[in-house]
Amino acid sequence: MKLSIIGTGYVGLTTGTCFSEVGHEVVCVDNNREKVEALLRGEIPIYEPELEELVTKNVNAGRLRFTTSIREGVENSDIIFIAVPTPPQPDGSVDLSFIEKVSHEIALCLTPELGYRIIVDKSTVPVCTGSKVMQTIKRYAPAGVDFDIVSNPEFLREGCAVQDLLNPDRIVIGADSQRAMDMMKRVYQMFHAPIVETDLSSAELIKHAANSFLALKISYINAVSAICERSGGDVELVARGIGMDKRISPHFLAAGLGYGGSCFPKDVKAFIHISDDLGVPFTLLKEVERINQTQLDRFMNRLREKLWILRDKRIAVWGLAFKENTDDVRESVAVNLCRRLCEEKAIVSAFDPKANETAARVLGDAPVTICDDMYECARGAEVLIIATEWKEFANADLVKLKELMHLPIIFDGRNLLHPANAVHAGFEYHSIGRASVYPEKKQ
Ligand code: UDX
Repeated sequence: MKLSIIGTGYVGLTTGTCFSEVGHEVVCVDNNREKVEALLRGEIPIYEPELEELVTKNVNAGRLRFTTSIREGVENSDIIFIAVPTPPQPDGSVDLSFIEKVSHEIALCLTPELGYRIIVDKSTVPVCTGSKVMQTIKRYAPAGVDFDIVSNPEFLREGCAVQDLLNPDRIVIGADSQRAMDMMKRVYQMFHAPIVETDLSSAELIKHAANSFLALKISYINAVSAICERSGGDVELVARGIGMDKRISPHFLAAGLGYGGSCFPKDVKAFIHISDDLGVPFTLLKEVERINQTQLDRFMNRLREKLWILRDKRIAVWGLAFKENTDDVRESVAVNLCRRLCEEKAIVSAFDPKANETAARVLGDAPVTICDDMYECARGAEVLIIATEWKEFANADLVKLKELMHLPIIFDGRNLLHPANAVHAGFEYHSIGRASVYPEKKQ
């Protein structure tokens, strides 16, 4: 089928690429000329495993192309996906101005002669946005154009976006017209995943409800981690014990420094705002946010308990990205941690396998020394903090690390190491929701 995707951000670029990979003819549109020119040269603006190879393969096969012209997209495709940013506003509501602008521009390109078109919202939007897009298009398009609006939310995770797209748990299609639903089902027939058919509003709600539920699971286990720390329990064992109940499932029960990224913080806030607007305040989600914020506070308190004054202490931080396998630092707890340490005048060095450059940009004036090597980052440090769940940190050579550090103390904010291994290598080891462990003193 002929598809166009407007917006080549994370969702637009990966979705467009995967659609071309399963055989569709795809035009990706972006109004940023430099970005489009870079993409035409095969340069991918984000780090995402497998993406570069897939873009190159499908561009060479003639199934994927990039343009700055919305008109080119609208005229040459049956289905137009909108995948532009929906950033948060200061009050937590969603800024829909990009969606409105693109809807208006699409309307100006539609004509009755073009024939039927489906306009699909892929971006995460508040419930009822679809009907606003419909009204906008009706207002600006010439009389007689034939179109439907569909909501088709995307559930990909950064760091494994390609695999999530090609092997989704489910596909949600919200449409108020059978004709649109049937065509959308054809788009996805090569994905071999169950399709959830809904009305427009339910599909929009599914996205906010799903992300808020996952954030809730993380805050739940983080609240349990605080109880474990006080009572001597082990949150990893508790998570295992509850996660084996199929009704709960073991996923998203990893205690840590809290959730970050471009989705959970924004979507939880948005859902709170949407529910307030509808007059049915979702106060449970306010607690989810509060727990997420206090998780870093509690970690900082434990660090102060150990080191007393942080001023002039040499602290190494492993991890800057908001999670592993990405260079994205949006709402990254690791970056917030570095900022907090700098505010307390600690001497901070940091390393991330992929996010050093993006983090340096957002850290701005904060005096963090960004290192090219994880061991050099830890050289001379009085404490090492693990802030992101990268595999290379879990597999670190602890003997080598101990030799490099000034004091053998690890604060593991992602429970990546096994306490017994850390102690065996001679480290004092503090983690989340587990008892701290100390090496035996030599006689
Ligand atoms: C999320 C959703 O998973 C995805 O379906 C949606 O489309 C976009 O938002 P993403 O933000 O890419 O994806 O990352 P995810 O893997 O969900 O992790 C989000 C944050 O939660 C990270 O900061 C991660 O470190 C944290 N997390 C995740 C935990 O602290 N514990 C967990 O058990 C899982």
